Amino acid sequence: MKRPFAELVGTGHYAPKRVMTNDEFSKILDTSDQWIRERTGIRERRISTDDESNACMGKAAAMQVLNDLGMTPLDLDAIVYATASPDRLLPSAACDVQAILGAKNAAALDVGAACAGFVYALNVAEGLVASEQARNVMVIAAERLTKIMDWSDRATAVLFGDGAGATLMRPSDGTRGILSSYMKSDGTLAELLYRPGGGAVHPPDAALLTDHSYYIQMAGREVFKAAVLSMADACDQALQRAGLTGADIDLMIPHQANIRIIEATAKHARMPMDKVYVNVDRYGNTSAASVAIALDEAVRTGRLQPGMTVLLVAFGAGFTWASTVVKW
Ligand code: ACO
Repeated sequence: MKRPFAELVGTGHYAPKRVMTNDEFSKILDTSDQWIRERTGIRERRISTDDESNACMGKAAAMQVLNDLGMTPLDLDAIVYATASPDRLLPSAACDVQAILGAKNAAALDVGAACAGFVYALNVAEGLVASEQARNVMVIAAERLTKIMDWSDRATAVLFGDGAGATLMRPSDGTRGILSSYMKSDGTLAELLYRPGGGAVHPPDAALLTDHSYYIQMAGREVFKAAVLSMADACDQALQRAGLTGADIDLMIPHQANIRIIEATAKHARMPMDKVYVNVDRYGNTSAASVAIALDEAVRTGRLQPGMTVLLVAFGAGFTWASTVVKW
């Protein structure tokens, strides 16, 4: 097992105030609370309002981390920002949040790995710390998927929600921190989960407003199968690289897309569900933000205690998948 180079010293999250239940969806779409709960485990999700931009949510999560640690944004050397739903396409979302944080001493960059974004971003941040390019790296994952999902498509609209999470990464004293990390991708399957329009290949035009190509499109069944296989691979790789097995893990925090994917991942890693953090019922799929929000909740509720070993694992559009084992 390698000596940890970097540790996570604080966590935070922001959840929009507006809660939308499954019953509310059944009033606007041909769906039901029962279908959504049985197929996904989701009961409700948060919907951002006009004053809850992606950057505002990211800032709120980061400020919670900084306030808890008695730090200010001026202490940050870098911001690594994971999102698939930025407020605007140029400049980076990281620069938008750097500006509103007033993080004048920080480099800022985005990581585009969809639902695997937070775990990818942790791995990028670890590299910055290990190579001594930065000491205090704020890793933020924020999503406003409800602005880029097709509200008329029952197969996707009921799945997503908004929110943000953050953590601060620093050089480790060698006793706690990241024990292993793993990242993988398969871009040949991109079109099973993507937004076809609105980029430089299909720039915005009148058709874009009516053909729904601006919105997330997903082949749910195929994505489901790929998610189960990829999450299993990610668990195996991170555990193997840390020289551990599922029995050594005190808590698994998986991407919160679907309770059935989470249960399959836990079964593969031979972890009982009482060692798996689940909040998909309350937030739906918040893409990159999901593991970050769950991590902060696990810390604040005492599920994740100092000395525990935690496995973070995620899968998303790309396809991308990633994992990391952290001594907390
Ligand atoms: N309400 C009622 N019926 C629905 C709904 C709904 N909201 N959505 C779909 N259905 C119907 C379908 O039309 C279909 O009807 P049919 O049999 O008459 O054609 C039926 O339910 C079954 O549809 P499936 O797609 O096969 O349902 P499935 O059990 O696969 O569940 C789901 C769909 C929940 C989307 C699942 O496939 C899934 O979770 N996929 C993975 C999603 C995921 O993990 N994404 C991760 C990354 S997301 C990111 O990166 C942004």
